[in-house]
Amino acid sequence: MPQYPINTPRLNQTLDELGHLGESPDGMDRVAYSPEDIAGRDYTIKLMQQAGLETRIDTAGNIIGRRAGSDDTLPAIAIGSHTDTVPKGGKYDGALGVMASIEVVRTLIEQGHQTRHPIEVISFTNEEGTRFHRWLVGSRSMAGLLEQEDLDAVDDDGYGLGPCLADIGGDISRITEAVRAPGELAAYLELHIEQGPYLYRSGTQIGVVTGITGRAVFEVEIEGKANHAGTTPMAVRRDALVSAAKLVLAIQKMTAEQEICRVSTVGSIKAVPNAVNVIPGRASIGLEFRDTDMGALAAAEQELRRITDQTAVNDGVDIEVNRHRFTSSVPVAPDMQALVAEAAENCGMTWESVASGAGHDAQAIASIAPMAMLFVPSVDGISHSPEEYSTPEDCGNGAQVLLELLLLADGRF
Ligand code: GLV
Ligand code: MN
Ligand code: MN
Repeated sequence: MPQYPINTPRLNQTLDELGHLGESPDGMDRVAYSPEDIAGRDYTIKLMQQAGLETRIDTAGNIIGRRAGSDDTLPAIAIGSHTDTVPKGGKYDGALGVMASIEVVRTLIEQGHQTRHPIEVISFTNEEGTRFHRWLVGSRSMAGLLEQEDLDAVDDDGYGLGPCLADIGGDISRITEAVRAPGELAAYLELHIEQGPYLYRSGTQIGVVTGITGRAVFEVEIEGKANHAGTTPMAVRRDALVSAAKLVLAIQKMTAEQEICRVSTVGSIKAVPNAVNVIPGRASIGLEFRDTDMGALAAAEQELRRITDQTAVNDGVDIEVNRHRFTSSVPVAPDMQALVAEAAENCGMTWESVASGAGHDAQAIASIAPMAMLFVPSVDGISHSPEEYSTPEDCGNGAQVLLELLLLADGRF
């Protein structure tokens, strides 16, 4: 049984309070750098300070709350997640990991337990990557994995990352100062909701994460010919949106029927000029493939290029495939998985191994520190939706196992 019981009602109260910031009938809207995201960040900083953590914002905009260890020559153990959301998202994705990390430190302070290692609670900025379509921005900055394209990215209004970072207390001109060298963190431990159906279906309390999926993101641009919707005979049209629609179905079939990789999603579509009486002269789709097997992702890209070439010939349109990102899958080391399982067992909880189909800050931090992740069930496996829900009890279970994991890591590293 756990040595130090965490305060589950208090944890859930902080989740509720954070969940009111950016809340709307359509879901949570704390898209990174928005006023609602900043309100969520301010709430997080206030909670960290109330808990007795020394807070700072690094140049990448990550919030870091530190508690000294009994041996400050040791590197810190970091725990955390993110508080930004996708548009119309849920209340638990990321938020649970940050609120639970603060609850863990509050419990340790109340119990008068000082860890050997310093503890850093980290709320990473812009995990979701909604703005600028660049994700894991805070954690990749910390891991030294940020690319020039991240720094150059602009949104549809030409607004760049620099002013956004200034709005949240970061500084793009000094962003490399956020980099932590390998060895600077003893370990990184992240609690997250599963965002998938497996734990909920099996009724298991804790998921021991075995690895984080790889992801390949593409933008496909189709150039046809704009013309009059009333006068142009069907046989001579080069309708870019019709070609896009064929591709949407073919991309779905690649996974649902051909099983070339685990999942495929066309999540965005644009038609130009997007007017009902004009044959769309241009269209674009944004899509992604995910699989832990990078060979499967390569095969999916090959098939995508084959079907776009074929559609271009069949439909008399020009198609360009732009690869935006190819994120490698990241395995969790077997000894770190074993530590999570041990922590769950010490807390008297059931556990099973699960792969993460979603991306996480942990996959970036894994390149500079030993990393472990644990999941709690998502009711009906729903996430990135206003219906996202994890029970108060499951949230408390996750925080309890996170605390136990932190204590095990404190003894082990
Ligand atoms: C991040 O939430 C993702 O899309 O996996
Ligand atoms: Mn998410
Ligand atoms: Mn998340």
